[in-house]
Amino acid sequence: MDSRETCPPPPVAGSVFGDRLPAAHRYVQELATTGVQWGLIGPRETDRLWVRHIVNCAVIEELIPQGASVIDVGSGAGLPGIPLALARPDLEVMLMEPMERRIRWLEMIVPQLGIQVDVRRARAEEATDRADVVTSRALAPIGKLLAWSLPLVRPGGRVVAMKGRSIEGEVRKHRRELAELGNPVVEVRRCGTGILDEPATVAVAYPRRRRRRGSGP
Ligand SMILES: C[S@@+](CC[C@H](N)C(=O)[O-])C[C@H]1O[C@@H](n2cnc3c(N)ncnc32)[C@H](O)[C@@H]1O
Repeated sequence: MDSRETCPPPPVAGSVFGDRLPAAHRYVQELATTGVQWGLIGPRETDRLWVRHIVNCAVIEELIPQGASVIDVGSGAGLPGIPLALARPDLEVMLMEPMERRIRWLEMIVPQLGIQVDVRRARAEEATDRADVVTSRALAPIGKLLAWSLPLVRPGGRVVAMKGRSIEGEVRKHRRELAELGNPVVEVRRCGTGILDEPATVAVAYPRRRRRRGSGP
C-alpha cells in the first residue's frame, strides 16, 4: 500500500462529491499525511476521515442556497469549507482562520484540489468580509460563536454552525448572551439523513427581523 493511501471512500461519497470525488480523495490523503504532521488533525482521526469529517461536513450543503457566498470561520484544516466547496462548485467559499501555520497549510493544499476558494488570515471579530452564509464547526460556544459570526452575515443571510447533539441545552445555557445579541432566531436542523448513520447537527441562526413601526398590533 502507498504510504499516502487512506481508507477508501464510502459508497455515499460518490453521490456527495460527483466528479470531484478524486479531489476529495486527494484532500483526505493530505489530511492523513501532512495534516497530521502539521498538527492540524489528530492521528487517531485518520481511519474515520471520510465519514466523520468529510461527508459529515459536506452534507450541510443542503442548508446553503444556490450560488451563495460562504465564509467558513475558524476553518482550521478547511472544515467544513473545503468539503462544501468540493460538493457545491456553485458556492463562493472563503476559509477564515487566524493561525499562521493553518493558513500556510491551507495555501499549500487548496491549489492541489482544483477549487476556487479564498484563504483569509483573520479573527472573525476583526474581519470586514461579509457573506450570505457563515459556517463553522467546533468554533466556540453558541453565544460567542454568534457574536463572531452574525456581524459577517449579509442582510437576508444566515449562520450555519455545526454543533453537537446537545445544542438545544447549549442554547438554553447561553440565553443571556443571545439576548444581548438581540435574540437571534436559532433553529436546530439535522443534515445528511439517508446519507449518514448519524446525521450532522447544525444550528441555523439569523437576526430577528425588526417589526416595522405601524405594521402590527
Ligand atoms: C477546534 S478548531 C476547529 C477547526 C475546524 N473548523 C474543524 O472543525 O476541524 C477551532 C478553530 O477556530 C480558530 N479560531 C479561534 N478563535 C478564532 C476567532 N476569533 N476567529 C476565527 N477563528 C478562530 C482556531 O484557530 C481553530 O482553527
